[in-house]
Amino acid sequence: MNPKYRKTVIAGNWKMNMLNSQVKPFAEELKGIVNKPKWCDVVVCVPYIMAPAAMKAFKDCRVEVGVQNLNENEKGAFTGEVSASMLADLGVKYVIIGHSERRQYYGETDISVNKKVHAAINAGLTPIVCVGESLEQRELGVTLELIDYQVKTALAGVPAEKMRKVIIAYEPIWAIGTGKTATAEQANEVCAEIRAVIRKLYGARIARAVTIQYGGSMNDGNAAELLAQPDIDGGLIGGASLVATKFAGIINAANKE
Ligand code: PGA
Repeated sequence: MNPKYRKTVIAGNWKMNMLNSQVKPFAEELKGIVNKPKWCDVVVCVPYIMAPAAMKAFKDCRVEVGVQNLNENEKGAFTGEVSASMLADLGVKYVIIGHSERRQYYGETDISVNKKVHAAINAGLTPIVCVGESLEQRELGVTLELIDYQVKTALAGVPAEKMRKVIIAYEPIWAIGTGKTATAEQANEVCAEIRAVIRKLYGARIARAVTIQYGGSMNDGNAAELLAQPDIDGGLIGGASLVATKFAGIINAANKE
């Protein structure tokens, strides 16, 4: 983290978990255990249909609501899809884009990620853009090249003045939901590489200001060490964000620095 230059953002990704009726009890429990008032920026990315309940439940504390996907088109005949302007209209502030589960199960590509990034930015949403390598790619030694390509493609055409709105999340696929966290050094190496790519594309000032998260089995036990790394500016947290005590532990670790 480097709070002097950029925001630390702790974001939960609830994936396809929880029920509407569980949102308020979760919010109340979280509010009771986070060391107030020093909340770093906290986001909870919920299933679309829980966004209104989450905004209501979190409205009196510094937790913003995000979702986990959007459609890249502005509007039209796309049955079952949700547009960026629908989300913005509802009051949603963040959207996860290109999560590896969407790439793996729903055919998202680097090109569709780029289109979704534009859709989010145009609607005033903050995209949390996920990049990361598989275990095979890491073992082949191509992690940094792959990350360069993913970041460049995701950001293609994004103007410099919009970069303040963009968050990148480094999520090694082999660490997601596996209990296998990247070491702090491994995670920082890739986050630093992402910053170097942004520096090449946009210059040092913007690179220094962009929030780059780590995600992949981050929990209340390992968060402090990961967040102490100079290029890791927060976390994207799946499993541990479903348990208020664990999520609070991560927020408190970020607040401590
Ligand atoms: P995990 O998920 O924390 O359960 O590993 C992270 C993510 O998928 O964003």
